[in-house]
Amino acid sequence: MIKVLMVGATGKYAGLVVPALEHRGVTVRALVRHGSKSDAARRQGAQEIAIGDLHNPNSLRAAAAGVDGVFHLNPAFAPQEAELGVAMVEAARASGVRKFVFSSVIHPSISKLSNHAAKQPVEEALYESGMQFTVLQPTMFMQNLDSGWSAALKQGHFSLPYSKYMKASYVDYRDVAEAAAMALTEDELG
Ligand SMILES: NC(=O)c1ccc[n+]([C@@H]2O[C@H](COP(=O)([O-])OP(=O)(O)OC[C@H]3O[C@@H](n4cnc5c(N)ncnc54)[C@H](OP(=O)(O)O)[C@@H]3O)[C@@H](O)[C@H]2O)c1
Repeated sequence: MIKVLMVGATGKYAGLVVPALEHRGVTVRALVRHGSKSDAARRQGAQEIAIGDLHNPNSLRAAAAGVDGVFHLNPAFAPQEAELGVAMVEAARASGVRKFVFSSVIHPSISKLSNHAAKQPVEEALYESGMQFTVLQPTMFMQNLDSGWSAALKQGHFSLPYSKYMKASYVDYRDVAEAAAMALTEDELG
């Protein structure tokens, strides 16, 4: 049976990967920063809990010990976002993890947007890690629209802080989660 360490199991988006993995019979070990989040991770479907923090490499190596795969997403706009992601890649490699799935972002080479540029060092670390890896580069998450939806219905219009001529598209993160689960259960891992 495949076992996967999940970063973000209690998160709004990454949390959607847990049921997708569970559906494929994967044992999920959730990385949580505080024991108080353990119940939330278990409710989401995690069977094991590892207490750790992306700021603490020792805790990441311990959390990744004995798992086949890692799912990782960088916490949004975290200071030192890139370093936190690279630390997870290095810990996974040191612990002998075979497959790493990184939920990155579309166009990580956009240097003017820190939340895009911070993904590039993590992708580069994966290329050099020797692990099997899949990098997912999703566009804007459709779930972002939830917060403004009821106001839009009341006001009769829906506005976004972008030019209406900007080319953009949305993805439902449940589809990203499905792709992540597929990548983590490919034959080579089983
Ligand atoms: N929104 C979009 O449209 C969009 C589009 C493309 C890409 N992205 C990218 O997707 C990511 C989404 O981030 P999010 O934070 O909103 O996702 P999220 O799914 O809500 O996940 C946040 C998770 O990260 C955990 N976490 C935070 N800091 C941690 C740390 N130091 N160590 C271990 N775990 C930690 C949180 O745990 P706790 O429970 O302990 O807080 C939580 O479970 C970002 O990298 C963003 O750039 C977003």
